[in-house]
Amino acid sequence: MIPVYEPDLTELERKMLCDAYDSSWISSKGKYINLFEEKFSEFLGVNHSITAGNGTVTLHLILRALDISDGDEVIVPNFTYIASANAIKYVNAVPVFVDCENDSWNLNVKDVEKKITNKTKAILAVHIYGQSVDLDPLLELCNKYNLYLIEDAAEALGTKYKGKMVGSIGIAGSFSFFGNKTITTGEGGMVVTNNDEIAKKIRKLKNQGNSSNVRYWHDIIGYNYRLTNLQAAIGYGQMLRVNEILDKKNKIAKWYKKYLNHELISHPPEKNYSKDTFWMYSILLDKKLESYRDTIMKILENKYRIETRPFFYPITEMPMYKMYKDEEFINIEKIYKRGINLPSSSTLSEEVVKYISKSIIEVLNEVVKYK
Ligand SMILES: Cc1ncc(COP(=O)(O)O)c(C=O)c1O
Repeated sequence: MIPVYEPDLTELERKMLCDAYDSSWISSKGKYINLFEEKFSEFLGVNHSITAGNGTVTLHLILRALDISDGDEVIVPNFTYIASANAIKYVNAVPVFVDCENDSWNLNVKDVEKKITNKTKAILAVHIYGQSVDLDPLLELCNKYNLYLIEDAAEALGTKYKGKMVGSIGIAGSFSFFGNKTITTGEGGMVVTNNDEIAKKIRKLKNQGNSSNVRYWHDIIGYNYRLTNLQAAIGYGQMLRVNEILDKKNKIAKWYKKYLNHELISHPPEKNYSKDTFWMYSILLDKKLESYRDTIMKILENKYRIETRPFFYPITEMPMYKMYKDEEFINIEKIYKRGINLPSSSTLSEEVVKYISKSIIEVLNEVVKYK
């Protein structure tokens, strides 16, 4: 089976992991935590990178550090992974959902302004599937209404917005290192920020709210959201290879564009402000094939041994978020039942991408014949 994603791990990461193990510093203290954070800061061009257990708690930490709490409103796209919305609920704030653009899968900036009220505290922009959100208009809104811009860049390590790394542009950015992410530590996450005060608060919150000068004195309710040195060792190794991984992902996207051509498929939208990293190379089936999407995916899996993923459901379709559905999300409705994430791991070869493309074309032709 060709997996939709698999970690790209080499001897280098194994060596780092074994070194951490042999040092016996296997918990959340040890040299690899610092090395990983420093390398990440250097790559992103930020002052602070703070490791955490995953890319959900990183969002929770950011919202807590910004004192977002009871009844505050946070604007978030309705087309995203559930974690972006859940983190808002963890702090008892109110998620305010926006549609995606009609020509990209990212949040619709024009809709954002309509949803700002005197309770709005932040905009949580999510760079979906590796493409950057148009951040300048959001920054303008943040200035105008005195809001924070938070970036959920879990899916977009290395993506650039007008030449700048995403995640580094808002007040704070969040990354995930789950096994299917551009770099992985198994589970893991990172908060990045240029703000010293926020960085200090996040370090304290992730570490049980420990006072910095009196041991075992806690003056806020914090969490144990720490990453281990073992995970950081893998992460450091991955960061030494990050440019190689990103180059490969760029090649994979080029191969898909070259080999996967069919009138009933459209390729990911590309905006001139975004240098996309194609975390998950994703296609949209023509509207005519909407009801066949799941069958097409099943055939790919059973007959061709190719694993794919459906697009995310709109968050407001889920039982816990139904009450926040304040409008029809027309553009998301148009895409989410037609979208497929294709195998995208940086371990893929050109031959395999060619095989996947050829198989998809074969399946589409079959489906069209019998439709
Ligand atoms: C957009 C987005 N935000 C947050 C997360 C949460 O990251 P994690 O799975 O590391 O908790 C993910 C992970 O899949 C994601 O895609």
